[in-house]
Amino acid sequence: MIEKANVTAVMGLNWGDEGKGRVVEYLSPNVDVGVRCSGGNNAGHTIVRDGQKFALHLMPSTIFNPKAISIIGNLTVVDPKALIEEIEELKGRGIDVGNLKISKKAHLIFPYHILEDKNMEDLRVNQIGTTLKGIGPAYSDKTNRIGIRISEMLSPDFEKKIREVIRLKGIYFVDHMQKPLDSEKIVKDYLEYAAYFKPYIADTTEIVQQVLEDVEKNILLEGAQATLLDLDMGNYPMVTSSDTLATGLVKGAGIGPLDMTNNCGVIKAYMSKVGEGYFITEQDNEIGDKIRELGGEYGTTTGRPRRCGWQDLCAIRYAISLNSITELCINHMDTIGKLERFKICVGYEKQEPRGVTSQYPAYDDVMKTYMPIYEEFEGNFGDISSARTIEDLPENAIKYIRFIEEQTGVLVKYIGVGPESEQMIVVN
Ligand code: IMP
Repeated sequence: MIEKANVTAVMGLNWGDEGKGRVVEYLSPNVDVGVRCSGGNNAGHTIVRDGQKFALHLMPSTIFNPKAISIIGNLTVVDPKALIEEIEELKGRGIDVGNLKISKKAHLIFPYHILEDKNMEDLRVNQIGTTLKGIGPAYSDKTNRIGIRISEMLSPDFEKKIREVIRLKGIYFVDHMQKPLDSEKIVKDYLEYAAYFKPYIADTTEIVQQVLEDVEKNILLEGAQATLLDLDMGNYPMVTSSDTLATGLVKGAGIGPLDMTNNCGVIKAYMSKVGEGYFITEQDNEIGDKIRELGGEYGTTTGRPRRCGWQDLCAIRYAISLNSITELCINHMDTIGKLERFKICVGYEKQEPRGVTSQYPAYDDVMKTYMPIYEEFEGNFGDISSARTIEDLPENAIKYIRFIEEQTGVLVKYIGVGPESEQMIVVN
């Protein structure tokens, strides 16, 4: 086999917000190309650099490395207004975004997608709790082949294309929502956005494939959202509308599945979720409230309080197998260690036929008939925020880490012991 560049992928194994950003940040200085592969500005993570706080949504985290090419990949959906705001904020704070590239294959989010997202959430009996950023409607137009790709921004026919889609959408809105679209404003705004984006638009697949040929180079694939939110393999319909798995990462970058070298799966020592949907290990009680406060569990994009509960080994194993995970990162070990005792789900008791299973079903109706089976652990880790090697951790913490390793068959490479970038143990 021909040797190629090292490709490391970082992805969330639960419902998002696992803290993927910190692993990405750690790897970032040695990266030649970083790709934010799928999803849109529904994602968010906070990066603290030199005491300054940055909230990124669609921007690849490698943007802080001036030597790296940072790519918004093939499977993303781009809200140009929101992205321009992100770019301008970074530029205003002295960050060079000259190496940003936006894939021609990415799709555009239009104001009508945001309207549809809001209207649909209002009309639904069982709300999903979307981020209201127009993500689902943009992906459904893409699948319906009435989406508009970023590449069209370079075409003299861009305006014509927008008008045609607005005609189709206009019919929809007038008939179903009694709210005609302001087509002139949309056309004017999007022509301006096209002029702004011109220097950034590229065939990013070509760029990635070229770099892939060089054995000396490092490519980083940055996951967004997470496995249990995947459109196909997550708890549908309480999911996002993109491919959040390793499959989405390779497609978003434009490489093949066997080009992946390390697949890092990120979890927290407990679990959290925003939005609706069944959460079998949820602690909708004092314990959940305590975890939320100790872990600062509030959404970066929406500010919503996150639902908190115990970690679930069945979900982790499911995600490990779907993503060919080769190493794990466990965040918030410091947070869980502040509890006296804590639990992890090791299987489910099921009713029909009666018995025990360790298979994660990913169907809310099935999960509602299950009862979690827990293994309990001792907390009270003391202050572990300055631990930098695994030997610095107390026995109770090591016990939990080893248990997860034994139960999943995957070694833990990174352990988060505090919110700051450097508060992480890297196990060699
Ligand atoms: P949408 O992606 O805005 O359509 O939202 C669908 C579901 O995915 C909702 O439950 C959101 O809260 C959730 N979601 C989307 N992006 C993220 C993320 O980055 N972190 C956590 N949850 C997310």
